[in-house]
Amino acid sequence: MNIVLLGAPGAGKGTQAAFIQNKYGLTHIATGDIFRANIKGGTPIGKLAKSYIDAGKLVPDEVTCEIVKDRLVNGEVGKGFMLDGFPRNVFQAEELDKFAKVDLCVNIDVDKALLMDRICGRRMCSCGATYHVSTLNGATTCAKCGQPLYQRADDNPETVGARLDTYEAQTAPVANYYRAQGKLFTVDGGSGTPEQVFAAIESELDKYLK
Ligand code: AP5
Ligand code: MG
Repeated sequence: MNIVLLGAPGAGKGTQAAFIQNKYGLTHIATGDIFRANIKGGTPIGKLAKSYIDAGKLVPDEVTCEIVKDRLVNGEVGKGFMLDGFPRNVFQAEELDKFAKVDLCVNIDVDKALLMDRICGRRMCSCGATYHVSTLNGATTCAKCGQPLYQRADDNPETVGARLDTYEAQTAPVANYYRAQGKLFTVDGGSGTPEQVFAAIESELDKYLK
């Protein structure tokens, strides 16, 4: 099973990817994580991506599509893949259809008013765990591995505003692309806990697998 996780910044793509990976063993490919690893490593891709990410804009399609294509065509995906943060515009969705088969697009729908608080309150761990300050009770280290928590460089109000505008203009139309193919499943990601959101996704994925 190959799925695309679609949703605005802060919708919960990374949070749900962890649940899905745990239950279904799909290979998680997150373009944002790939860019951040390149920025940390000081690679040419990282140097190029940084200026776009800091401005809340999309990294150019030719760079992003090539990274995903290389990963899917030349890498191992085992039971299937789960793309988080790709495709992010209709051009990327069309390109993806040329080199891989998407079975389902899970669109995590969250009211825009909630997103700024979710992102600016997010704390990350380098082990991959994600938290929100409202549930940390002042803790500054990861409950899973004990490492210090940090905030992403693009999680400040100004950049988040630009990321939300980019989402509205370029990424939201991707839902229609998959709706037209009969592959869209939209889940309410704004009114339940992460576990409740996953329960709704799980029942759809189980239905698909039957
Ligand atoms: P990327 O890393 O993909 O970031 P994003 O899309 O902005 O999404 P986030 O990772 O911020 O949010 P999320 O949906 O994963 O939410 P999370 O689960 O963490 O991309 C970053 C940048 O890279 C882009 O801006 C762009 O520049 C570039 N880029 C990446 N892909 C690209 C592409 N394809 N083309 C071009 N450029 C690209 O949750 C958020 C918070 O909410 C957490 O604190 C979490 O604990 C909390 N939370 C989650 N679920 C719930 C819930 N149900 N209830 C309450 N709180 C919740
Ligand atoms: Mg994410």
